[in-house]
Amino acid sequence: MSDAVYLRCIRPDCRSTRDVGETVFTCPQCSGLMDVCYDRQRQPAPSTWQFAEAKWSRRTEPLCFSGVWRFHELLPFAPPDKLVTIGEGQTLLQQADSVAKYVNMRPGCLYLQYEGMNPSGSFKDNGMCAAFSHANLVGATRAACASTGNTSASLAAYCSMTGRMRAIIFIGSGKISYGKLSQALDYGALTIQIQGDFDDAMRRVQQVAGRLGIYLVNSINPFRLEGQKTVMYRILEALRWQVPDWIVVPGGNLGNVSAFGKAFHELHQLGLVPRLPRFAVINAAGANTLHVLIRHLGLQWNGGRPDETILQRYYADLDASGRKADTLASAIEINRPVNLPKALRALACSGGAVREVTDQEMMDAKARIGAGGLGCEPASAASVAGLKRLRDEGVIGRDERVVCVLTGHQLKDPNATVAYHTHERAVFEEYLGKRGVTQAPFANRAVQVPNDLEAIVQAIERAS
Ligand code: F0G
Repeated sequence: MSDAVYLRCIRPDCRSTRDVGETVFTCPQCSGLMDVCYDRQRQPAPSTWQFAEAKWSRRTEPLCFSGVWRFHELLPFAPPDKLVTIGEGQTLLQQADSVAKYVNMRPGCLYLQYEGMNPSGSFKDNGMCAAFSHANLVGATRAACASTGNTSASLAAYCSMTGRMRAIIFIGSGKISYGKLSQALDYGALTIQIQGDFDDAMRRVQQVAGRLGIYLVNSINPFRLEGQKTVMYRILEALRWQVPDWIVVPGGNLGNVSAFGKAFHELHQLGLVPRLPRFAVINAAGANTLHVLIRHLGLQWNGGRPDETILQRYYADLDASGRKADTLASAIEINRPVNLPKALRALACSGGAVREVTDQEMMDAKARIGAGGLGCEPASAASVAGLKRLRDEGVIGRDERVVCVLTGHQLKDPNATVAYHTHERAVFEEYLGKRGVTQAPFANRAVQVPNDLEAIVQAIERAS
C-alpha cells in the first residue's frame, strides 16, 4: 500500500508509525494503541457528501450496496479489490416517539440507530468487514477473537460466507447467550471455551494470536474501528447530514465510542460537519470500569497523558479483591476495556458523559424499546436506560436531538426477554432474579386460557 495510509501510536509523546501492511495493533515502542491515519495531501478526501449519495444509484455493485464501503473514501486503507463485504450496514435510523415519552423527551427528538439489522445481527459486522479486508490485504489465513458472543458470530459469518479464512473464537465459560453461541457453532467456527470470563479470554487470545501468527479481530485492531466509523456516517445520512446533539451508546470494550469519536474528529477536520455531537457511554453497573475511573477516580484524557497510576491502582484492586464483571447484559460484561485510552480521547473531544445503569433499568428500557417495535438485546438497552438517567439529571435537554445506538438484535438473547415477560416465577428467578432484577413493570404477559372456544373469545374481547 502507499504510505498515504499508516498506523500511528495515539500517545502524543510517542507517535511511532508502522506500515499499513503490518499487523501491529499496539505500539512496539510504548504499548499504546494505534490509529489508522491518512495523509490527505497524498490521498485527497471528498469535500462534499455527494460521493456517498452517488453510490446508491449503483447499488447492484456489492461495494456500493454495503453500508460500510459506500463510504470507502473515508476509510481508504485498502484498495477496492481487497475489500470484503457480505452486505453489512443496511441499517435503520428510526424516530422513536414512544421511547421518547419513556425518557421524557419531546416527540421527534429521539432516534434509535438499529444495528441489529446487520447480517449477523449486531453492529460488529461494520468493523468485521474492515478487519477482514485488512486480513485479506496482509494474506492472513486464520483469524481469532475473544468474545462475549457478537464478535464471534460476526467473525464466523465472514469466514464461512467468504470461505477465505478459518475462524477461531475464544469464549468464557457460561458467559455467552445461546443465540450468539448457536451462530458461531452453526457457521463452523473453531470454538475454544476457556474457564474464566471475557477478560481472561481476551488476554489469552492476544497471547495465542502472537504465538501462532493468527490475525486478531478484536477491537484492539484499529481496522475494526475504521469500519465502525460508518455507523456515524449512516446516522448523518439519515438526518440529511445534520449533526445530532447526543449519541448514546453502551460501553463494553469501548470500541464503538472510540470509532465514533474518530469518525467525527476526521469529518470535522475535512469540513464535512460543522461540529461534533456529544457522546454518552453507558456501562452496566456490574461492569462499570469506565464509569468508576472517570466519575469516581477522576481519570481524564489529559491531552494524551492520562494518569496511569489511577488505572494501575484500579486494576490492582480488581485483582486483589477477585472481583469479576457481573451483569445480565453479557455483551458488555467486561472489566478491562482494551480501548480505554481511545474512549477517553473521544469523550474529551466531544464533552461527553459516562453513566452506569442497573440490570433492572436495562431490562425495563429494553421492554419499552421492544414495545416500540425494534427489539434489542439487554446490553443495547443500556443506551436508552442511560439516556433516561441523563434526562432525569437534566444533563440532556427534553428538546435536544438524541440518537441511541441499538447494538444487537433482540433474538440474540431471547431468554432474558421471555423471562421478563413470563408468569413463571422460577423462570424469572433463573434469568433475572439472580442478577438483582426484582420487577417487570412493562411485562406483556401471555394470557392463559383453557382450550375452549368461548373462553378464548372472551379473553380476547376483554384484553383488546
Ligand atoms: N453491545 C453489544 C450488543 C455488544 O456485543 C458489545 C460488545 C457492546 C455493546 C460493547 O461495545 O465494545 O464497542 O463498547 N461485544 C463484544 C463481543 C465485546 O465480544 O461481542 P464496545
